[in-house]
Amino acid sequence: MSFIGRYSPPGDKSITHRILILSAISKGSCKIEYALKADDTMATLNALKAMGVEFDVEENIIVKGVGLKGLKRPKSEIDCKNSATSMRLLAGILVGQDFDSILIGDKSLSKRPMKRIIEPLTLMGANIKSDDNEHPPLFINPSEGLHPIEYELTVPSAQVKSAIMLASLYTGEVSTIFESKESRNHTEMMLDYFYSNDFKVDEYTVPGDFSSAAFFIAGALLSKGSELLVENVGLNPTRIGLLEVLQRMNANIDVQDIKLKNNELVGNLLIKHSSLDGTEVYSEEIPTMIDEIPMLAILAAFANGETIIRDLGELRAKETDRLQAIFSALDALGVDVRIEEDDLYIKGGKIKPAILNAEGDHRLEMAFEILKAVSKVDIEIRGGNVSSVSYPDFYKDFNKIWRTK
Ligand code: S3P
Repeated sequence: MSFIGRYSPPGDKSITHRILILSAISKGSCKIEYALKADDTMATLNALKAMGVEFDVEENIIVKGVGLKGLKRPKSEIDCKNSATSMRLLAGILVGQDFDSILIGDKSLSKRPMKRIIEPLTLMGANIKSDDNEHPPLFINPSEGLHPIEYELTVPSAQVKSAIMLASLYTGEVSTIFESKESRNHTEMMLDYFYSNDFKVDEYTVPGDFSSAAFFIAGALLSKGSELLVENVGLNPTRIGLLEVLQRMNANIDVQDIKLKNNELVGNLLIKHSSLDGTEVYSEEIPTMIDEIPMLAILAAFANGETIIRDLGELRAKETDRLQAIFSALDALGVDVRIEEDDLYIKGGKIKPAILNAEGDHRLEMAFEILKAVSKVDIEIRGGNVSSVSYPDFYKDFNKIWRTK
């Protein structure tokens, strides 16, 4: 079996969160086409709804913006479920409101680091706390006024950068953020687009999600006879580090029809089965492919020679400790794999039957499903059934393009 045909990935998760938030606090109404309707993005939508924003959710989503200061106090705690993007970005706008709010999350989100946003937002004058200054719930109270900051990010995180940018909308002045490694810049691109349209955008089309497409891109590269056309996928340079790494690994990928739409690059990718070579992935590349590392590690297990992926410390702060989970999975499959400090070393070779634990992490589940499909050994996946967090139609799309020639 091979991955064959044309495939359009679902709407980009990061961009959907941002357009929901920015259109909610903008003036006028915005029709969003191709928004991702998954658990994570619906957590953001429901949070905004609880603060009085009206949404009409059909094939498209229509948002009636209430303006920067038009949100209303939510009647209860805001549940961000599994979504750190919802919690960190919403915190950025909530610190600018005249009402108090509490942000909570599920078991996984309740273990994720929040000091990274509490610190810069507090420096801006925000009133945001958590019991241990690190983990959710986050308690936000009105402040005496926010002021701009100059801030150097301590972690390469687009979520932190975005929280500061959204809070800075409430200062009316210019904040400056320095990042030593460039993380995804969708908030910058979207703010620029809103400002050039008088902060009122009538229509916005969300590009396809490169991170979701990455599973089938990998599947097509690994299975003989595959030829997959990935259509309408976001190609923002701060998101497609994996593409560059794969091209270095000798992958047969043709980039076609690049266009600029709503300030974001989109295009098509033609993927053909390839024999991959190992490579070294450098620290500064990691933020541009942070969510694709589980899939890349599996690709590396099938490549000729060794792949070294540097500086993966941030993977420990994801939905699970993804660095440890990747190591455990590859080790169970009999792959020659080791972690030294935060660097991951993988030697390509034969794999053996194994039981893999996705630990309730959507990206691990989907990466393991691709591995299971393309390998010839028995693989059992436990701890899955969570792809709806970012990709509700994953199995439906899979069945459409995974077929005999
Ligand atoms: C995201 C940024 C990344 C990524 C997450 C979505 C975003 O997190 O892992 O899935 O939408 O800004 P960090 O910026 O915290 O690395």
